[in-house]
Amino acid sequence: MTTADPTSPHPAWLPPAAFRAIGSRQTLVCGDGTLVETVRDEVARACARFGGTVQHSTGAATEPERTGVGARPYDLVLALRAAGSLPAGAAPAVEVGRELGPDRGGLDPEGFALARRDGVTVVLADAPAGLLYGLFEVVRLGAAAFDADRAVRVHSPALRLRLVSHWDNVDVHPVMGQVERGYAGGSIFWRDGAPIGDSDRIREYARLLAACGMNAMTVNNVNVHGTANRLLTDRLGDVAAIADLVRPYGIRVHLSVNFAAPVALDGLHTADPLDRDVRAWWARAAGRIYGTIPDFGGFMVKADSEGQPGPYRYGRTHADGANMLADALAPYGGVVHWRAFVYNHRQDWRDRSTDRARAAYDHFTPLDGRFRDNVIVQVKHGPMDFQTREPVSPVLAAMPGTRLAVEVQATQEYTGQQRHVCYLGPWWSEVLRFAPWGPGRPTVAAVVGGSSRDGDRTAPAGDDDRGVSAGGGLVVVSNVGADHYWTGHPLAQANLYAAGRLGWAPDLDPLAVLDEWIDLTFTPSATGDPDLLRGTLHALLDDSWRTYERYTAPLGVGFMVAPGHHYGPDVDGYEYSRWGTYHFADRDGVGVDRTRATGTGFTGQYPQPWADRYESLDTCPDELLLFFHHVPYQHVLHSGSTVIQHIYDTHFAGVEQVAEMVRRWERIGPAGLVGPALHARVTERLAEQLRSARQWCDTINTYFLRKSGVPDVRGRRIH
Ligand code: GCU
Repeated sequence: MTTADPTSPHPAWLPPAAFRAIGSRQTLVCGDGTLVETVRDEVARACARFGGTVQHSTGAATEPERTGVGARPYDLVLALRAAGSLPAGAAPAVEVGRELGPDRGGLDPEGFALARRDGVTVVLADAPAGLLYGLFEVVRLGAAAFDADRAVRVHSPALRLRLVSHWDNVDVHPVMGQVERGYAGGSIFWRDGAPIGDSDRIREYARLLAACGMNAMTVNNVNVHGTANRLLTDRLGDVAAIADLVRPYGIRVHLSVNFAAPVALDGLHTADPLDRDVRAWWARAAGRIYGTIPDFGGFMVKADSEGQPGPYRYGRTHADGANMLADALAPYGGVVHWRAFVYNHRQDWRDRSTDRARAAYDHFTPLDGRFRDNVIVQVKHGPMDFQTREPVSPVLAAMPGTRLAVEVQATQEYTGQQRHVCYLGPWWSEVLRFAPWGPGRPTVAAVVGGSSRDGDRTAPAGDDDRGVSAGGGLVVVSNVGADHYWTGHPLAQANLYAAGRLGWAPDLDPLAVLDEWIDLTFTPSATGDPDLLRGTLHALLDDSWRTYERYTAPLGVGFMVAPGHHYGPDVDGYEYSRWGTYHFADRDGVGVDRTRATGTGFTGQYPQPWADRYESLDTCPDELLLFFHHVPYQHVLHSGSTVIQHIYDTHFAGVEQVAEMVRRWERIGPAGLVGPALHARVTERLAEQLRSARQWCDTINTYFLRKSGVPDVRGRRIH
């Protein structure tokens, strides 16, 4: 990692060195449009640094050849297929284009074809966004992009919408601060009710997002308060300014809106979605927005959730509410992300019949098929709330007539708050690859990619951008802030990178994604041993999610965190509260009975084979046992261990693994493989992780020893 200038943001996965292979060569860029200009500017910037050249040919004209290029062939051609005839020196690109031919159909609007032929690396696209993503693919390949010949390979995103959701408050919230659940300093957009005005940083952010495959973002928190409402009206210019900065990188801006905005902003007496004045208000708002931001993406709405207003207040359904906003946006091609995170947050803990896990399914599945084509129902990946381990939400398998998005959380609210190393790529990969109808059937990625019904997404370019078959994509809650490293913990950058890459290609191996991130982010120093650095980073990150799981809440039971801020252990912190997040531990056993036979019936929300697998103790996976079942402490897991012994063993093991991470990281310090500031930052965070892991271990083990009275068979010290 380069840390030359501590006042400017860390370059993350786009340090100048990542462009060495391109910047030292001869490149031709062909085509018109803002994103093509971005491609040209990126290459030109790299060439200025590394001595290469770039030539830009548009439909209208070809720039004069730069000195030194002469008739030399290009090393790299990045061309829109419609850009017209290619100049001499680009003959291999013409051949690749011919091979791609009309019979291969149009490329996806964001897709590209990549090949290397006769010493020329060729990227062809049908739309400018494809050329931009193609450029970043070449950056990822580095020198290897210019090695041996490569057969033509067509790349296109599996998920059409890949959106980063910022929980950034415009005003500082008295409890949540500037960024709700933010662990990386302030917001990169807002400070104390006003835009921060750091255009460079926002532009850099858009580059990073495009380079990992993202194409959209919301700029404000899903809980919309105060000034944030006015982003729809007199503060729309602030949004437009952000949109202008990120547009050159293919990022569209979306806004979180408050369902009762017409009441809050203009004193309407109602926000009833069927009221004529309300509908007209939103239609006017949409018209104003698109008059200012023609490529505006749409609205994200948290309605009837955790105290936010919504259609229930007026006796209307979520479909009524979402469709009303969808109708306002439809003339302009905008979408509504309508969140399915709806549950009773004022539950009586004494009431054993209410199960928060059931809520999203119960509220939303009766509405399947009733949402407009430009509504995306946005479903948290698990039925509860971004826990370290949860089953996949059954809603994702139960609304075939609705566009669905899956929402994951990069900000580490429940996974160590960017003080702990916790690489979430493997977790999200499990979610995206999960096959709700069993092996060989469509996966979650296919559902949110819109291809779960027809097997594969084969829609040609530009076609079918709307409708269920477009899918709803991936939404990732941002882990980014005004911190120098963007993410507080420098190694948490890998989570944002992985979210983008898995949104583009959900079947990527998350550890291979980590390798990409390492290669791009950490420039090998002339003297250091790159394998030592790579080995250390893998040792820290690869298994870190499972390590975190080992020393926190056991076997999928979730929570056990300190109420409010959610950092550190408090086993009974939520046990007698209104939030519906219980573990039911007593002297005999622990876990939530969600079976159909004797519990809340939640297992019945799954299709087969999972409905039965989760129902039965014989087939329920160990890691989710306590999510689905209440069992005695001496219940024997598939692993052969008892539940209580598993709790003791995993907690001690988790701490030992963190201690080993600390040792591994210490070892690379003297080798100078990373800058001293970055090394120090990670060292400081690892020390806190170790302290916190010990606290978790001691708290959980002691709690269960005292509850159960069952000693550790290995006689280790429990308090
Ligand atoms: C969690 C989180 C909240 C957030 C909510 C949401 O409950 O703690 O801060 O607002 O999720 O996703 O809306």
